[in-house]
Amino acid sequence: MEEQVSGWKGIVLAGGAGSRLYPSTAATCKQLLPVYDKPMIYYPISILMLGGISEILVISTPRDLPLLRDLLGDGSRVGVEFSYAEQPNPGGIAEAFLVGENFIGGSPTCLILGDNLFYGDMRFIRRALAKKTGGTIFGYAVQDPARYGVVEFDEAGKALSIEEKPKAPKSNFAVPGFYCYDNRVVEIAKELEPSDRGELEITDVNRKYLEKGELQVEVLSRGTAWLDMGTPRSLLDASNFVASIESRQGLKIGCLEEVAFRSGFISRKQLAALGEEVKGSEYGAYLLSLAEESS
Ligand code: TTP
Repeated sequence: MEEQVSGWKGIVLAGGAGSRLYPSTAATCKQLLPVYDKPMIYYPISILMLGGISEILVISTPRDLPLLRDLLGDGSRVGVEFSYAEQPNPGGIAEAFLVGENFIGGSPTCLILGDNLFYGDMRFIRRALAKKTGGTIFGYAVQDPARYGVVEFDEAGKALSIEEKPKAPKSNFAVPGFYCYDNRVVEIAKELEPSDRGELEITDVNRKYLEKGELQVEVLSRGTAWLDMGTPRSLLDASNFVASIESRQGLKIGCLEEVAFRSGFISRKQLAALGEEVKGSEYGAYLLSLAEESS
């Protein structure tokens, strides 16, 4: 059983317009669309849970928040606490810290985007959460950095520059949608001005930490997959990726009940009961098989 990381809270940002996925997002939100065998939002939530975080705020639009609440409930089934807050308009990723101010209270906080999938060596999460002052972002080597936020850093992992979709990237490391900050992030977010596109930009939050010399970059190893799922093609690629790994290994990616069990949030008996509830599905059969595995 993993040791629980105390003190951190987690936010999943699952609003936005989802315009690139129209018409699939005309009547529902992107984060409820299936990625192979489970809703998209399971993947980022599982990452927070793998980090040992049990207090999780889900932020979405007034239209979609009730649907996400129907799906996820209060979290007690998987031994965590989900709360919910509305972001009335897509005012930018950094707005999550204003919407989530009460939830955050005095804690350090991680923010993960509802359409990001990580898979592979997950030790980077615990490394980031071990550090409780300053900000930690991640660096992921990509072939086409100009499409992303790009971070340049020194040998010790200290960020030197961060630029949004630069024409001449200073490194080939993109910044994935997963960010960890100390409690000052709320005050930093309050001081931000909207960008030219009218949004509170997460890059500006990172720049504030960088100016203080307190922005750390954890490099994700090449054995880690980072996918975002915001376009029809990338959504299909993510589904195919999950299907390939799951059918090869017989193990699921982003299965909240499994993560809860392996992280010590729920007991074997609780896992078996969850499997029993939905035993007619492949998913339920999987939960039951895990509960029967010898410990
Ligand atoms: P994006 O993919 O940048 O935007 P989007 O989801 O609105 O999609 P599109 O560009 O196709 O219109 O958002 C990344 C993630 O952040 C996604 O999970 C939605 C979420 N998000 C919010 O919840 N609120 C916001 O204000 C923004 C900008 C994004």
